[in-house]
Amino acid sequence: MTEVNAEFVSELVDAGIDRREARWLVQEFVLGSERDAHDALLAAATRRLNGEPLQYIIGHWPFRTLDLDVDERALIPRPETEELVDVALRELAAGAVAAPLIVDLGTGSGAIGLSLVSELLTRGVAASLIAVDESSDALALARQNARKHRLDAVSFVHSSWFESLDESLRGRVDLIVANPPYVGEAEFADLDPILHHEPRGALVAEDARGIPGFADLDIVIRDAFVWLAPYGALVCEHSETHRRAVLELAHAVGFGTVEDLDDLTGRHRILVARR
Ligand SMILES: C[S@@+](CC[C@H](N)C(=O)[O-])C[C@H]1O[C@@H](n2cnc3c(N)ncnc32)[C@H](O)[C@@H]1O
Repeated sequence: MTEVNAEFVSELVDAGIDRREARWLVQEFVLGSERDAHDALLAAATRRLNGEPLQYIIGHWPFRTLDLDVDERALIPRPETEELVDVALRELAAGAVAAPLIVDLGTGSGAIGLSLVSELLTRGVAASLIAVDESSDALALARQNARKHRLDAVSFVHSSWFESLDESLRGRVDLIVANPPYVGEAEFADLDPILHHEPRGALVAEDARGIPGFADLDIVIRDAFVWLAPYGALVCEHSETHRRAVLELAHAVGFGTVEDLDDLTGRHRILVARR
């Protein structure tokens, strides 16, 4: 780090910004002249001190192998969700379909689905992806990320879960991945205020079956079965508190094999249900 950059970092730390984040901001914004860099840095630091997430200020963030554009239109992809992609890749490898059809429900920035398509391509597998979201803002961001990474075999569907999917896809999808909203209203009120900068509809779900925040998981697990091809799999992130409910529901729906796997933090949060 240059002397000027080190001074910038110290200035941000003195203003109250965490040292690691200060280094990230300097790396991102100190590009042009010293004067321009200083103005850009101060503007970024002010946003951060006002509570905005670092990822939105920087405007892009790594998720597995992709550098994704991120902003207020969609959830910031979480490191725990990276594990879900590994699980999905294992499921696809087990199914050994030559050109799998994947549906990413609630795609947000496109993190899960675009990672799958990109990583499958590097393994010589040409998958097609249908990225679904009920937020048109999120879909626009996912489309931007697909273009950024030149991923062409992707279509985008504005839909509440399966509602507007082409009926001809019933029974033909090899893999459904989803990270639906699963935070209950009451829990959300108690969470870190930084989360209020992300779209509420990406995090908060209504209650169902008397379970807080279960409504979207309920629809995704219940309806996935009929859209999957024989031996197709649903891989779905959920909260640890929903573990029993997701397992019971997947069994009740009729999935042939059902398991719940650990995420990176060792908590059971990834449902895998194979038809
Ligand atoms: C937890 S975020 C996940 C975003 C992204 N898949 C990820 O893992 O970073 C949930 C996503 O589901 C979308 N969503 C919420 N309700 C939906 C619905 N009824 N139908 C489709 N998508 C929905 C939200 O807009 C949001 O993009």
